[in-house]
Amino acid sequence: MLMNLIGRIWSGALIATAATLSLAENSVAQQTLPLHEKRASASDLKLSGHLPGMPKSVVRFVSYSDLLKLQQVRLTVSDDSNFKGKAEISGVYLGQLLQTLAVADKGTLIAAICDDGYEAHYSAEYRTAHHPILVLRVNGKQPVRTSRRSDDGNYGPYLVSQALFVPRYRVFAYTEEAQNPNGVLELRFEKETKVSEATKPPGAFAAGSLPIKGYQIARENCLRCHNAGAYGGHKSGKSWEALEHIAQANPTTFAHYIRDPRSINALAQMPGFPAYDNATLSVLIAYFQAFVAENGSR
Ligand code: HEC
Repeated sequence: MLMNLIGRIWSGALIATAATLSLAENSVAQQTLPLHEKRASASDLKLSGHLPGMPKSVVRFVSYSDLLKLQQVRLTVSDDSNFKGKAEISGVYLGQLLQTLAVADKGTLIAAICDDGYEAHYSAEYRTAHHPILVLRVNGKQPVRTSRRSDDGNYGPYLVSQALFVPRYRVFAYTEEAQNPNGVLELRFEKETKVSEATKPPGAFAAGSLPIKGYQIARENCLRCHNAGAYGGHKSGKSWEALEHIAQANPTTFAHYIRDPRSINALAQMPGFPAYDNATLSVLIAYFQAFVAENGSR
């Protein structure tokens, strides 16, 4: 099988002498990651999007065992909604993974894509503030061997978590949320500018205007399950355009759907956001309506 070796020595690593290396706890942490053209195992992690030196359509796979050879970080999390109480996790910082793969940190948005089409998004800002970790072990075990709390499944192949999450901002009743997906199959490296082009409200809106406030919520919340063109999750099967139409044609239904989906659709799978007050719902409506106003016929 053809294999590309992309790797980088960590800044500082070159300075270490053989003596200090042999004393270091993680003395021979491998800093390259072999990329494979084909999946060899269900636990391989798929990589897609902007990989250095490759066309955007190219995908690659990395093995669980090679990821374990990268420098591991280990910590105890107590506020990850995946777990009841505390869990000890270990894995690789997403920032470190970018560095190992020689993907630029600045301007790269990482989408962690799950088995059900859900996507969690990690901007450069999020990574700097929260240091998300690709989790390779939960309480010492591979995620695929750890039973999921919510159902009979397991957490595999990968999760993303981080140390104690301190939200950075609020937009009315929305508070910045921790992105803690499980069942992660793929990491896709997107250009942040492209994702904002697809999601920012068209037109000249001032910072602090209603559509811009709604934008901040929608790109962090709704984009996990609803896709805006080529970007965002597919769990819902309903695109941004579908949401734009409902927001325009029936803002009351739209608002009820967000707060309590089952009040509109008895079989709704979407989780409700009952804490969203009228101010929060109105900025979301203003945001989705802005697309229709701009494009008229859409
Ligand atoms: C965790 C996944 C998830 C998130 C996050 C999510 N949705 Fe949904 N949404 C769904 C699913 C799944 C459906 C399809 C119908 C159903 O099962 O509820 C849906 C359907 C909808 C519908 C009805 C569409 C129709 O054609 O009837 C609206 C409106 C909607 N979502 C708005 C939003 C908005 C606005 C946000 C962000 C504030 C959001 N959703 C966040 C999963 C999600």
